[in-house]
Amino acid sequence: MKRSLLPLALVLMLVPQVLIAASCPTKSTEQWLEWFEEKAKLMSRNVDTYEKEVIEYAKDCGPTWNLKGLSTCSQRLVVSAQARAKRADAARKGSMGWEMSDKEYGDRMAKEFKTLPPELKDGLPKNYREIAKQKGWKVLQYRSRTVPNPPNRSFARVLIVVEGDKDDKYIQFTVSDDPSNPDKPEQLIDYLSVEHNKNNPGKNPQIHFAQFWRDQNGKNPRNKLDISRNNSHGHMTHDSCYSCHPNGVRELSPEPGSYSKEDADTYAYLKKKMGGYGKIEFNGALTPEAYGAPMGKEQGCTKCHNNFEGTHLQSRGALNYRTEKSHIAHKMNADFSMPVTSLDPEKELQKTIDQIPYLLSDAELKKFQAGIRGVGQEEKNEWAIDKLKELGKIDAAKHKQLKFVLNGHPNYPNCLGEPDCFIGIKKTYEKMNGDLRNTSQYADNNVEYYMEKCTPEYLIPNTNPTAVEDGSRSNEGGFFNSIMNFFGAGEGSTGSQQ
Ligand code: HEC
Ligand code: HEC
Repeated sequence: MKRSLLPLALVLMLVPQVLIAASCPTKSTEQWLEWFEEKAKLMSRNVDTYEKEVIEYAKDCGPTWNLKGLSTCSQRLVVSAQARAKRADAARKGSMGWEMSDKEYGDRMAKEFKTLPPELKDGLPKNYREIAKQKGWKVLQYRSRTVPNPPNRSFARVLIVVEGDKDDKYIQFTVSDDPSNPDKPEQLIDYLSVEHNKNNPGKNPQIHFAQFWRDQNGKNPRNKLDISRNNSHGHMTHDSCYSCHPNGVRELSPEPGSYSKEDADTYAYLKKKMGGYGKIEFNGALTPEAYGAPMGKEQGCTKCHNNFEGTHLQSRGALNYRTEKSHIAHKMNADFSMPVTSLDPEKELQKTIDQIPYLLSDAELKKFQAGIRGVGQEEKNEWAIDKLKELGKIDAAKHKQLKFVLNGHPNYPNCLGEPDCFIGIKKTYEKMNGDLRNTSQYADNNVEYYMEKCTPEYLIPNTNPTAVEDGSRSNEGGFFNSIMNFFGAGEGSTGSQQ
């Protein structure tokens, strides 16, 4: 080789390595696997934190990981760390749990998705039913089972749904929860718009959340995302919508019988509509996959609550550690609506509850509503069933059956071996909810989730296992060996039993 070409040759030899290396450390495949597992464990135990190193290395290690077939091991970790870092940064600036500040969230939302229709610009007019009828809007007046809204802890709501070419607006007014003063002003308006993209088949529906706050007379609503503290009528705190809306829209769970016959049709209509959007996305403000494994694998919840990664027709946004625990408990131990059952007697319970406005006369319904207000959350379903029997709306046999569904066999567990020795959904779901709260099980599931796609079929094993770069590599088996066992390179697969 000519002398003058030598430096060039050296440079050429170095170039590829320089490109790959940058700030990416040199590690063998097995060292990387151990590193990924360690990071997965850290990000699973400390769910609110992220590993800076994962983000740092992701900048420069992509080609290395690709070469070694490790991209599938890095993917979920990187997405997760990046999203959590953005969220932490946003939290410092003020954010209701998005991966961006509230200011940014509000500023980038198209005006049409955060605007009240002109007819509702000054709050809820007295003739809202008339207006809704004219405009073809849906109206449902009901009482929530779950959320007491500020400032008066009201459970009463008027939900108006405006279906449009581009979006469906769900505009939920908190209204007076004081039967002796039905016109008492309330201040909160919850608002969400589902940009349904019906005419845009390549794009999933996108959701936009907003909250408005009215003055003390229930007038002059102001979008909290657009206002400064000075003109906010004194209310600036935002709820973290995602913590209770893991699927974007949140299907309604009214107190039994808390709406009229007329609105019962609307309730059924809305239930279907809300369940029919398919995968709703958060318009780039949140990455559901970043928050770890879908919760409830052992309890069967992930069949449906799986971030649409499963095949179930009812697939929806996953529950994860960000999901409000009290709401999971509520669905299981007060509503008794989760897990969705496939057993007919259990379905019959929910069906009967939904039928209440049709079964009772107007006068009966009024009395029923007054009565159920004071009943504890966990007792409302049972109270309703007892009342239906008392009023002669269901017969003794059906009453007995529905009570049985709830409470099980009176001698449980001493009835074991006898027919009908059923534990009842109250106790079943209570135990399930206890198990769901097992955080160490959840942390394990998280590690598994991060590493789920990190399987040997993608890995490119070191051709000569004795020549790994790391002399201090652990021999204790663990993750590396279990992976290597898959393609016959780990301990126990060497053919040597001695
Ligand atoms: C503490 C839990 C919780 C939080 C936090 C929460 N919601 Fe909800 N939201 C619910 C529940 C539950 C429902 C269903 C109605 C019911 O049964 O009370 C609901 C229903 C709604 C509805 C009616 C449409 C639908 O999806 O059912 C709107 C609009 C809404 N919420 C907006 C918001 C916005 C905007 C935020 C954040 C600023 C928010 N919510 C935060 C629990 C919550
Ligand atoms: C067969 C499908 C299915 C299974 C299994 C299931 N769910 Fe659900 N879940 C749904 C549907 C559909 C909704 C919306 C209807 C509703 O809110 O009642 C929902 C709503 C919820 C909500 C309200 C938040 C949301 O996603 O809108 C919670 C909390 C919940 N389920 C918890 C659970 C838990 C906990 C389990 C397991 C013990 C479970 N679910 C099992 C289908 C399912």
